[in-house]
Amino acid sequence: MVEFTLPRNSKVKQGKTHKAPAGAVNVKSFRVYRWDPDKDDNPRLDTFELDLDDCGPMVLDALIKIKNEVDSTVTFRRSCREGVCGSCAMNVDGVNTLACIKPIAEIKGDAKVYPLPHLKVVKDLVPDLNDAYAQYAAIEPWLKTETPEPGPESERLQSPEERKELDGLWECVLCFCCTTSCPSYWWNSERFLGPATLLQAYRWINDSRDESAGERLDALEDPFRLYRCHTIMNCTNACPKGLNPAKAIGEIKKRMVQRR
Ligand code: SF4
Ligand code: SF4
Ligand code: FES
Repeated sequence: MVEFTLPRNSKVKQGKTHKAPAGAVNVKSFRVYRWDPDKDDNPRLDTFELDLDDCGPMVLDALIKIKNEVDSTVTFRRSCREGVCGSCAMNVDGVNTLACIKPIAEIKGDAKVYPLPHLKVVKDLVPDLNDAYAQYAAIEPWLKTETPEPGPESERLQSPEERKELDGLWECVLCFCCTTSCPSYWWNSERFLGPATLLQAYRWINDSRDESAGERLDALEDPFRLYRCHTIMNCTNACPKGLNPAKAIGEIKKRMVQRR
């Protein structure tokens, strides 16, 4: 696993410490990034000492325990608690990951919990993903066809081999752990689409039922949107679902060359 630059704001101050309950034996400290940009001048790191003998095994379990039992104002996104919705992406111990599938036991010493790096912070661990979603929408992530539908009794079919071509792509949960670990995206996020969106673009380019691959490639043929990827591979190392966005980007580049 690669360690990434933490949020650029260097003025993080030490915040409050919430002590472990009396009698707790198996205590671990969670140092959690807190910032409400509407109210606070600077972010701070609050420390929460938890009794791990009375806590679920994942980092998200610890955050939920903190919110339920210690400080209800701690703010983070979550939904499924099993790594399929992509909501709980954050930076734990210097690594972008999904908090619900990150075991506390893997973290040595205090657990440092920050929002995904290099994004604006809405509050605490909630990053502003509006731009990232707008980029995703720009690749038109839906099936585009020109031929008439086969009719009410049938569907647009794929062979098992064609369907297999989507493996390693459809599993993406759009958590943006990859995109926010990509140095090219940090410096060019207004123009480079980033690995998550490019993997999604390839998911549609590579779908045998889609009839707009040429148009999709045209839209990516640009020095920034696609070609700002310099194959640094942080994205692939960061993906908590074990996907390979760098490979998907490479495949798009290959298609570009093949059609010339
Ligand atoms: S391989 Fe490309 S997209 Fe992935 S981290 Fe490197 S530059 Fe970013
Ligand atoms: S490729 Fe992996 S890291 Fe990137 S958005 Fe999809 S699931 Fe998240
Ligand atoms: S809560 Fe859904 S991926 Fe973590």
